[in-house]
Amino acid sequence: MSVTHKSCRLIATILNKNCRSVNKSVFNRNRHVDISKEIYLQSRSIYTSTLLFKNISFKLSDIGEGIREVAVKEWFVKVGDKVSQFDNICEVQSDKASVTITSRYDGVITKLHYAIDETALVGKPLVDIETDSGDDTESSSDDEKVEKKTEEKIVKSVQQTSPSSYKKDICIPSVRRLAKEHSVDLSLINGSGKDGRILKEDVLNFLKSPELKADAAPSVPVHTPKTVQADRTVPVKGFQKAMVKTMTESLKIPDFVYSDEVAVTKLAQLRQAVKEECLKSGVKISYMPFFIKAASNGLLKYPVLNASVDSNCENITYKSSHNIGIAMDTKVGLAVPVIKNVQDLSVIEIAKELNRLMISGKEGTFSASDLTGGTFAISNIGVIGGTYTKPVILPPQVAIIALGTSRVLPRFDADMKVIPEEIICVSGAADHRVVDGVSMASFINLLKKQIENPYLLFLNL
Ligand code: COA
Repeated sequence: MSVTHKSCRLIATILNKNCRSVNKSVFNRNRHVDISKEIYLQSRSIYTSTLLFKNISFKLSDIGEGIREVAVKEWFVKVGDKVSQFDNICEVQSDKASVTITSRYDGVITKLHYAIDETALVGKPLVDIETDSGDDTESSSDDEKVEKKTEEKIVKSVQQTSPSSYKKDICIPSVRRLAKEHSVDLSLINGSGKDGRILKEDVLNFLKSPELKADAAPSVPVHTPKTVQADRTVPVKGFQKAMVKTMTESLKIPDFVYSDEVAVTKLAQLRQAVKEECLKSGVKISYMPFFIKAASNGLLKYPVLNASVDSNCENITYKSSHNIGIAMDTKVGLAVPVIKNVQDLSVIEIAKELNRLMISGKEGTFSASDLTGGTFAISNIGVIGGTYTKPVILPPQVAIIALGTSRVLPRFDADMKVIPEEIICVSGAADHRVVDGVSMASFINLLKKQIENPYLLFLNL
């Protein structure tokens, strides 16, 4: 009789485990294989169809970075859904990044172990899948083997989907974002993608639809009585949870803050002069890449600011790489992505990397590596406002600087004439157990000198 290669493999697995006398070589032929009726009947007599379908507990594999638990943000499947290998199962969020978990099996979902926003533990079952693979439930060694392969794309999507909006509403984060920007309810759209997935074109077509225009027609304002909103309690999670941990640790550090005015008039002129040229090369250049380079040059001279200390402050490690974390206001809150090896980068290379990280921050596509390994940090809160700042150290780092907003103020020039000067207040905070005030003051002086004479940044002195 003729059976397919897949069936043969399946029967081989079964027979191999339970009827070791059967010679596996009969299954080695290509695609279609003849096997003897006897063996076939033997296999049928050993296994009933219920044994061919195994209910597998698909465990949450190790995501790395020491992450032990994650919050389930979105299910892409529900009980009864058929899934194939690499189909998206769910999206989970740790305190470092979001991860899309994909299936390792073909089969049917029989159980979701967590509700939205519940905490899932690494190594514990995430979903149960009924599969005809013939495999037994995952063993821990299986877990380890597949862990690396486990198909996890670091993507972000913080939108919460209600459990009822399963497959039909599945769409990629950029489409959800587009819908959100235009306040479009995705449940009103019929997706034209695979399995009814909603594509960007579907949202754009929906926006063009005449019904929507009619809906959008100006209506007579109606007075609605104000209702008092109920209080809301939400769990602290994701990046916010990371912030809780880091800031609480930071409070244990006896720090000091040193501030000074830095004139950015010449830097502003330089930036203005090169801005268009940079844009033509696809790079947006702000003050930040110059400050980042100036800080790195300062760290070369004052390496204690680029050090880390262990939790009991018994050892100081002087870091050779200048991995500068940039405090960033992202869609998911405050994140500190890291520009690695700044000491080897030019201003324009720093700008490119900053641009990339800012896009990742907007789209929520930071990788775990983007968010780890920082040795020093810069926070430009001046983009938002505020003249003076007191930055908070991110342990185990020992120093951080923050920039206030730039203001044009009257100042004296060398001839004691009053001139307009564009000024940013720079504040540096340091761990006073290992950094003394002189080191920080000297570091800020050097940074100030370079920013006020930006040609120095290109001399690699
Ligand atoms: N004062 C005034 N204007 C400033 C400024 C400052 N200190 N810093 C930047 N700007 C200007 C920029 O030049 C730019 O102007 P342009 O549009 O004319 O080119 C504009 O503000 C926007 O800058 P931005 O695109 O944000 O780039 P950036 O490289 O200066 O800053 C980030 C990048 C990531 C630091 C910034 O976007 C950000 O997220 N800041 C928030 C930092 C934060 O949250 N700190 C944590 C506090 S707890």
